[in-house]
Amino acid sequence: LTHFNPMKTLFKHIIAGALMAGSFLFPPAHSDEIQSKPNPLVLIMLGPPGAGKGTQASMLHDQLHIPHISTGDLLRENIRQETPLGKQAKTFMDKGNLVPDQLILDMLFERVAQADCAQGYILDGFPRTLLQAESLQTRLKGHAQPIVLNLDLADAQIIERLTKRVVCESCGTPYHLAYSPPKKKGICDKCSGKLIQRTDDTEAVITKRLKVYHDQTAPLIDYYNKLNILHSIDCNQPKEKIFSEVVAYIPKPSK
Ligand code: AP5
Repeated sequence: LTHFNPMKTLFKHIIAGALMAGSFLFPPAHSDEIQSKPNPLVLIMLGPPGAGKGTQASMLHDQLHIPHISTGDLLRENIRQETPLGKQAKTFMDKGNLVPDQLILDMLFERVAQADCAQGYILDGFPRTLLQAESLQTRLKGHAQPIVLNLDLADAQIIERLTKRVVCESCGTPYHLAYSPPKKKGICDKCSGKLIQRTDDTEAVITKRLKVYHDQTAPLIDYYNKLNILHSIDCNQPKEKIFSEVVAYIPKPSK
């Protein structure tokens, strides 16, 4: 028969509790590695409407197998599903204005908190204001490696690119009726979805989007330049050539 010693039992409980608290506060090194890559890459596609952010982000996704997150696509999905966010966003998007920062930040941060983003992700169309950029920087600091790819294209070429653009209704892949048409008219090469023209791709709304870009988003070039993480690429060249320049700025994964 073992003699019951209340002091010894209490001591055992204290030690077990301390060990549990310790593993919660200071998890073993390998638990981090399983959940997320240390310092995952966050690729930020910056540039005016129509510069090719979506095109390059989609090519990067195919090569790197990390999520391609387009705030424009997330908003359009909300509009299709007639969510409260979609209804609010539509009034801004139809006029070529930016959707208010807080709506965008809530939507984006909820998306990047999902498990598939633990290995890194590509941001297309975010950030677009100084407040969005600063909020992202605060969130990523010390946890991720942001790299900004600034896609540079003159306003004159943007109208031509956007008025002849069609996009896949299902997967968002963009095509250009002259420069990169789909193999089958009206059908997405990737997922066989229906190709449509965006409602904000009219000349009047494109002109407004360009003005908004110059006023509110272009200042981010200076912001990221000062952080020393900005790379600018001339986008007045074929998309494959741009892609080879984009890829050259992405660090090789460390073994
Ligand atoms: P969003 O959907 O992000 O649109 P955007 O920034 O205006 O950019 P686009 O999608 O029009 O162009 P892109 O640069 O991706 O070019 P693409 O690759 O398609 O935003 C829409 C709206 O949502 C905003 O106006 C705003 O209201 C709201 N919104 C979104 N994010 C927000 C945020 N963070 N904050 C607040 N509001 C937000 O290429 C364009 C065309 O050119 C295609 O036809 C393509 O095939 C062709 N092309 C591409 N590359 C080449 C090439 N090298 N040579 C020839 N053609 C090419």
